[in-house]
Amino acid sequence: MTPMSFADIQRAVGGKLAVLLGGNSAEREISLKSGAAVSEAFRRQGLEIEAIDVADRDWMQRVQKFSHCFIALHGPGGEDGTVQGALECMGVTYTGSGVMASALGMDKLRCKQLWLSAGLNTPRFTTLHAHTDWQATVDELGPMIVKPACEGSSIGMSRAEAAAELEAAWQTANRYGQVFAEQWISGGEYTVAILDDAALPAIKLETDAAFYDFEAKYVSNETRYLCPCGLSEEDELELQQLALSAFREVGCRGWGRVDVMRAADGDFYLLEVNTVPGMTDHSLVPMAAKAAGLDFDQLVSRILAAAIAGGNAAERQGAP
Ligand SMILES: Nc1ncnc2c1ncn2[C@@H]1O[C@H](COP(=O)(O)OP(=O)(O)O)[C@@H](O)[C@H]1O
Ligand SMILES: [Mg+2]
Repeated sequence: MTPMSFADIQRAVGGKLAVLLGGNSAEREISLKSGAAVSEAFRRQGLEIEAIDVADRDWMQRVQKFSHCFIALHGPGGEDGTVQGALECMGVTYTGSGVMASALGMDKLRCKQLWLSAGLNTPRFTTLHAHTDWQATVDELGPMIVKPACEGSSIGMSRAEAAAELEAAWQTANRYGQVFAEQWISGGEYTVAILDDAALPAIKLETDAAFYDFEAKYVSNETRYLCPCGLSEEDELELQQLALSAFREVGCRGWGRVDVMRAADGDFYLLEVNTVPGMTDHSLVPMAAKAAGLDFDQLVSRILAAAIAGGNAAERQGAP
């Protein structure tokens, strides 16, 4: 496929583009930063941008005036298929995954079930409830990480080893909806960005914290990001293929990012897929893109070009 030039993009979108940002999720602040960075990158290249906060009541009226939009929303109510569904109804072409894959990608538990059924590796897990036998769970899984199924940014997550800790961790996570415990994987942490159905170079994340928590993600200057990631060529290829299979299995399209742990024995384990990963200039996808020779402006253009090439649902179904 010949790459779309920026002039082609400008023509396709009629010179102006809506950028959806903000929203009401716990990741609102990150989304405002992603949306501002994306808007700036398109403006630099000569597109007229209207930034629309989906927390505003009139966001749908505003976005309806556009043929295309870039989704820079993270978390429930933006990354989870709801906004995508509204855009499908309005006939507005949007970046990234469709309704079903966005909804699935938001739900770590259902992704894990899907991956397991497809023979893809993910840490062992169990769902937690008020009536869970905490000790039996500890006996079965050993050290664990407790997570809300449908949150991001490490919100509500904690590590637990003993029964009392596990119950406390469940209580912390429970205010965000369904909760599960996953076997703790000791080893390296990697993330693989996907662009146009191809994996970009993997990034290794190193933190001195117990895990890559909210602080390590957005506040600490001590978190280290290695790209090249230090794996052998063969191992990186295996990791990239696993990430791409995970992405495809969920039905994702356009772009995204898959988080993976590598156990001490060298096996890779899928954690989650992000259908709208962070897009500030410090974020991971821009870092991987840079390693592949794409600067931030080129990256946002490629994401938008993929959406233009894919069209909206009506166009995909061949409707007039
Ligand atoms: N099974 C696990 N073993 C060890 N650490 C984990 C495990 N699952 C998650 N983590 C840590 O928690 C972080 C957040 O988990 P993740 O599933 O990627 O959720 P999110 O990024 O949506 O908050 C990971 O980046 C990793 O540092
Ligand atoms: Mg993650």
